[in-house]
Amino acid sequence: MDTAVPARADAEVRPGIRLRPVSIADVPALQDICLRTGDCGRDATALTRFPELLADVYATPYAHHEAAFGTVVQDEGGVAGYVLGCLDSAEFERWRQAAWWPPLRRRYPRPEDVEEGFDSGPLRTVATGTGPDPVWATHPSHLHIDLLPRLQGGGIGRVLVERVCAQLAAAGSPGVHLGVSARNPGAVEFYRRTGFTELARTAGGHTFGRSLAPGSTAPASTVS
Ligand SMILES: CC(C)(COP(=O)(O)OP(=O)(O)OC[C@H]1O[C@@H](n2cnc3c(N)ncnc32)[C@H](O)[C@@H]1OP(=O)(O)O)[C@@H](O)C(=O)NCCC(=O)NCCS
Repeated sequence: MDTAVPARADAEVRPGIRLRPVSIADVPALQDICLRTGDCGRDATALTRFPELLADVYATPYAHHEAAFGTVVQDEGGVAGYVLGCLDSAEFERWRQAAWWPPLRRRYPRPEDVEEGFDSGPLRTVATGTGPDPVWATHPSHLHIDLLPRLQGGGIGRVLVERVCAQLAAAGSPGVHLGVSARNPGAVEFYRRTGFTELARTAGGHTFGRSLAPGSTAPASTVS
């Protein structure tokens, strides 16, 4: 898509750890990371019949349609993390309804045809799509962030959040939201510590949001 965002050169954020824009070539890495963090931050490999399903919902479409707001983290072992932003959730979902979900609906079973379990939620999303959500009015953007364990706990998540927030703000977004499971308290604490506040809560989880009004993001020099 043609959206003005800050120039994004590769950036070394720690010795041997670099950030760069996501590309279609990263799809296998996105699938791997999404699966290995897909059980509320833990490895979901043993829980799913469909190893690419989580990424088909939460990662891969962003590399196809919202690459301007995606960053991968690479170390000596390869790509080991990402943040994937979406500027306009409503527009993104219109695109997924038109172009993304239909082929997946032919590839995956209908949710009612599989036993209720780990795959049921993402299969329902494939079957129906998402939203609309009231939070889109004030926080139209959203994001997903996942790091493999070897990159966790070193400040990289915070760097990624600041980077994508700066990109979304520069493209004119007034706010960004995300969903997090109540079964992932570490991520809940991470979002609270990176400037997000709770917008809504359900039995299963939280919707967090962060304003992107001018002055609410870190200086561009720290997020390039
Ligand atoms: C959640 C995640 C993105 C955080 O990234 P990270 O690089 O580990 O976090 P950072 O080191 O940048 O931490 C930033 C702040 O959040 C806090 N934080 C991060 N993870 C935390 C945890 N598990 N428990 C409590 N606090 C945590 C840090 O203490 C730090 O706070 P401070 O700066 O005020 O001291 C990363 O751990 C991850 O990818 N986890 C697995 C996948 C996942 O759960 N993704 C989110 C799905 S909604």
